[in-house]
Amino acid sequence: MHITVVPASPKTGQAAIRSLLADASNPAVRGYYRDLAKVPAEFKANPRFEAVQGDVEDAASLDFTGSDAVLNITPPLYDERDIIAHARLVSENVKAAVKLAESVKRLVLLSSVGAQYDHGTGEILTNHEAEALLHDAAPEVVFVRCAYFMENWGMALETLPAGFFFTTLTPLDYSLPMIAVQDIGSTCAAQLLATGTALPSRPHVFELHGPRAYTSADVQRAFEEVLGKSVEMRPVEKAGLDGFYAAVFPPGVAAHFAEMNRSYLEGGILYEDPRPTPGEKKFGKTELVEVVRQMLGA
Ligand SMILES: NC(=O)c1ccc[n+]([C@@H]2O[C@H](COP(=O)([O-])OP(=O)(O)OC[C@H]3O[C@@H](n4cnc5c(N)ncnc54)[C@H](OP(=O)(O)O)[C@@H]3O)[C@@H](O)[C@H]2O)c1
Repeated sequence: MHITVVPASPKTGQAAIRSLLADASNPAVRGYYRDLAKVPAEFKANPRFEAVQGDVEDAASLDFTGSDAVLNITPPLYDERDIIAHARLVSENVKAAVKLAESVKRLVLLSSVGAQYDHGTGEILTNHEAEALLHDAAPEVVFVRCAYFMENWGMALETLPAGFFFTTLTPLDYSLPMIAVQDIGSTCAAQLLATGTALPSRPHVFELHGPRAYTSADVQRAFEEVLGKSVEMRPVEKAGLDGFYAAVFPPGVAAHFAEMNRSYLEGGILYEDPRPTPGEKKFGKTELVEVVRQMLGA
C-alpha cells in the first residue's frame, strides 16, 4: 500500500504518518512539505517514508502517481486572505492531483464537526468548503469530522507559569466533546489502510470524539493534577470573545475564530445541531489528562 499525506507538517498529518509507519502492514508513505526543513528526524530515518517538496496552493507541485490513498488536511490560514477562497483553491488543487494520478482509490479528508453547515461556524467553513469540493474526488471518499482538539489547550502553556489559564468554554460546567491528535492520527491511518474495502456511502462521513466530553472545570483539574498545584481559571464570556481573539489574531482571522467559538456555545448552530452527522460516531481512547501531561512534558 502506498499512501500520500498532504500537507504532512500539520500536527494531525504527523500523527497519521506516525501511525502508518508503525503499522504491521508496512505501508510506504509520501509526505508533502512546503518546507523540507520541517521533516521530523524520526520520519527521515524510516526507509518507507519519502518527503517531497510541494505546496497545496500550487497544483503543479502535487503528484500523487502510484499512491493508493491520500490523506488531505485543509491547512489553517492566519493572515488576511479570504479563508473560504483559500480552502476552495487548495481543495481544487488536491482534487485535480487525485484525478490525475489514476492509482488513487481512496481520499480521506480530515474535517470538522459542523462541516455540514454553510453559515454560523466561522473557521469551520473552510472544512465545509473542502467537503463540498472533495465529496466525489476518488472512488472512495471518507470525511473524518473531528471534535475540538484537546491540544487546543496548549494555548495555556503561555500563562500557566503565572498560575492561570483562559477558557472560552463557558459556562464552566458545560461539556464539549474533545479528541486527542494521536487518536485522529490512528483513526485516519486505519481509514487509509482500509482502502479497497467497501464503504456504506460516498462520501462516508463520521464524527470522531474522545472517550468523553469535558468541561472547563475538567481542564482545570487536568492541569492541577499534572502540575501538582492549584491553577486559576479565567473565563472569557461570550460577549468578550471578539476582543479576546482580536488580541492575538489579525481582524479577519479573529472574527472567524470568535464565530466558531460562539457556534458551539449555548444558542450557537453546533450547540443546536439541527442537521447532525448521520450514522455512528467513532471514539478515541486518549483522556485529556494524558494530552495535558504530554504538552507539559511531565
Ligand atoms: N483545532 C481544532 O479544534 C480542530 C477541530 C476540528 C478540525 N480541525 C481542522 O484541523 C485542521 C488543522 O489541523 P492541524 O491542527 O493539524 O494544523 P496545524 O498543526 O495548525 O498545522 C498547520 C500546518 O499547515 C501547513 N501549511 C499551511 N499552509 C500550507 C500550504 N499552503 N501548503 C502546505 N502546508 C501548509 C503548515 O506548514 P508549515 O509547517 O510549512 O508552516 C503547518 O504545519 C484544519 O483543517 C482545521 O479546520 C481543527
